[in-house]
Amino acid sequence: MIPLPGDHFPSATGSTLRRWPGDRPLSIRPGTESDLPEVVRLDEEAFPEGPYDYDILRQWLDVCGDRLLVADDGTTLHGYVAVAATPDPTRTWIVSLAVAPGRRGHGLGRQLMLETLGHLRSDGVREVRLTVAPSNTTAIVLYRSLGFVPVGGIRKDYLGPGRDRLLLALSF
Ligand SMILES: CC(C)(COP(=O)(O)OP(=O)(O)OC[C@H]1O[C@@H](n2cnc3c(N)ncnc32)[C@H](O)[C@@H]1OP(=O)(O)O)[C@@H](O)C(=O)NCCC(=O)NCCS
Repeated sequence: MIPLPGDHFPSATGSTLRRWPGDRPLSIRPGTESDLPEVVRLDEEAFPEGPYDYDILRQWLDVCGDRLLVADDGTTLHGYVAVAATPDPTRTWIVSLAVAPGRRGHGLGRQLMLETLGHLRSDGVREVRLTVAPSNTTAIVLYRSLGFVPVGGIRKDYLGPGRDRLLLALSF
């Protein structure tokens, strides 16, 4: 089993991440309603080919509760991860992960995932699922390195015509 920060989750004050030279320190903390404009901007930057609609992101900030985490430098959000509310407390879904293009490749995506998975595991979640575009090699490599494994093959048109997805699952 990969080591996860299972007994650690950002408190109201958040956890501090590594500092980039010349940059403000990042903290990972639960998102709030006041983060909506930044989450919308970040999502558009991260998914230029098809960001989530404003109303979806608006509702996630309510529905996900403290399971929507943001990476914040005090003025700007650089990443977020969102986990769905599900009726079965032992199984859930990561519905989105995004890091701002200028911040990629420095461990922030992995850190967001580790914070989230640690929190879920300590909450008693036993299985986490997500979907990813089969062409999204970066995300797939990240998820596989965290222990996610494919559930079956490619799901054709999973998100609508032409939008195939790979379903991955991680069991704790
Ligand atoms: C996927 C994404 C969240 C990764 O965030 P990131 O901060 O760049 O990722 P990290 O720096 O933490 O890297 C995590 C791992 O991803 C893999 N990775 C990162 N960049 C990669 C690249 N260019 N090519 C292949 N693998 C890569 C590596 O395995 C890396 O781990 P390592 O550095 O320990 O080897 C980011 O690229 C992103 O926001 N993409 C657009 C939105 C998206 O596709 N979200 C996922 C939807 S399912």
